[in-house]
Amino acid sequence: MQLYVDSANLTEIRHAASLGFISGVTTNPSLLAKEDPSLDIKTLILDIHKSVGGHTSVEVVSTDTDGMLREADEILSWFPEATIKIPFIPAGLAAVRALERQDVPTNVTLLFTPNQALIAANAGATYVSLFLGRLDDISTDGLQAVRDTVEIWDMHELESFIIAASIRTPIHVLECAKAGAHIATVPYKVLMQSMKHPLTDAGLAAFLADNEKMNAAKASLA
Ligand code: G3P
Repeated sequence: MQLYVDSANLTEIRHAASLGFISGVTTNPSLLAKEDPSLDIKTLILDIHKSVGGHTSVEVVSTDTDGMLREADEILSWFPEATIKIPFIPAGLAAVRALERQDVPTNVTLLFTPNQALIAANAGATYVSLFLGRLDDISTDGLQAVRDTVEIWDMHELESFIIAASIRTPIHVLECAKAGAHIATVPYKVLMQSMKHPLTDAGLAAFLADNEKMNAAKASLA
């Protein structure tokens, strides 16, 4: 399972990318709205893309097909390898089909059920983003939606990539990997949490202390 960072914060994205295990970044209008309003969106998106050097999903905000396609053209004029993120609404599905005909990759977002994901895949989505944390928020099992979607994908050999999104905890990451999601897009904080283990820290501290002791013992013999 590939890991993307779900963020529009350049500091977070640059640090996550510098660690070498991130294959992409997903943004959305809410994440962009958290950043400094004086930043130019095009410049920010291009900086984000340069920092990650891989998949970069940029979301449209139009709610009609023509508007979405116009926005997609603009984003693609910034960088042609952009993945256009499109909300799961009827107008969005038509935009996905039109972009698929032009070989433009799309990421259909705001999916909450396997049926929605199946419809998006049939419309030609390159990626389908299932929001599991927001399902958990309303007492519905988000991970089960991911598991069911993966089962359907395996059974029918569907080609769209399943992105587990709206990830809230390291356990979500673990369970999405076990379920067979192709990608998890993970907030920076959860990526950092997923790296941490007290035994790793304690083990390194002991190795370094023992190395110092050994060097001191050798120095005392010299
Ligand atoms: O990228 C979209 C998705 O990951 C949003 O997550 O935490 O706002 O539900 P969240």
